[in-house]
Amino acid sequence: MEIIRTVKRLGEVTDTARDAGKSIGLVPTMGALHAGHRSLVERARADNDIVVVSVFVNPTQFNNPDDLRTYPRTEEADCRMLEDCGVDYAFIPSVDEIYPETDTRVFDLGPVAEVMEGAMRPGHFNGVAQIVSKLFAMARPTRAYFGEKDFQQIAVIRRMVEIEGFDLEIVPCPIVREADGLALSSRNVRLSPEARQIAPKIREILLSSLDLKAHGASPLEVAAATEAAINDVEGLDAEYFQIVDAKTMQPVNSWAEAGEHGSVGCATVYCGGVRLIDNIRY
Ligand code: PAF
Repeated sequence: MEIIRTVKRLGEVTDTARDAGKSIGLVPTMGALHAGHRSLVERARADNDIVVVSVFVNPTQFNNPDDLRTYPRTEEADCRMLEDCGVDYAFIPSVDEIYPETDTRVFDLGPVAEVMEGAMRPGHFNGVAQIVSKLFAMARPTRAYFGEKDFQQIAVIRRMVEIEGFDLEIVPCPIVREADGLALSSRNVRLSPEARQIAPKIREILLSSLDLKAHGASPLEVAAATEAAINDVEGLDAEYFQIVDAKTMQPVNSWAEAGEHGSVGCATVYCGGVRLIDNIRY
């Protein structure tokens, strides 16, 4: 595996691969890699001739400076995992390499980016669009892989791809969980032992929400009961739980409204001061 630090070198290796008719799989990450990332990389490895994984803690998507400062950085361990997964290129640039000048682009992401994470984290999705569009322009991948834990992020990236006219396939990959149901996240390492015990309750409550639906509750009733159930657990504090159309990310009033792509319940929950997200399909 070659570690690439410059945009120039990334362009060289991906241009060479493309010119030789090879497919390129890109897995954008912010490092602190875990089994969830591994599943994305393995999928990319199975689908493509060349696999590029970017490891870059993108400052423009952090709306909270403390979150950026304390975001886990584990480059050596990350490289070991990527090597082990048979990755061809790890792209690990500096902030100056990616942003030699301030990126002032404002993307017209529309309604998908206005709700939930978009409403709670102003500027976050614009920052995601900035970095992912740069990575797409630099590597021009055939396919790019994203985890469904950040369900809304995938919808936003699809919108960015539409705006920018990138010719590539976005491949969403299922959430990977701990044995007790907690969705894997780089932020899980911040959970205290006590918070770690409580965190799997989020998944349990989301699973019980399926029963509410099965017993005839409407999306709004399921959403209200689920948010209340989360808040009833000592140590959990729901920022929101919303049931939205899995494509448009807009709240649904009836199950039928979501159409063929269905609906998804998206939760953001503070657990011992750590902001966790998870979701469930209905
Ligand atoms: O999901 C993430 O880790 C990040 O938002 C991404 C897509 C790598 C962009 O920095």
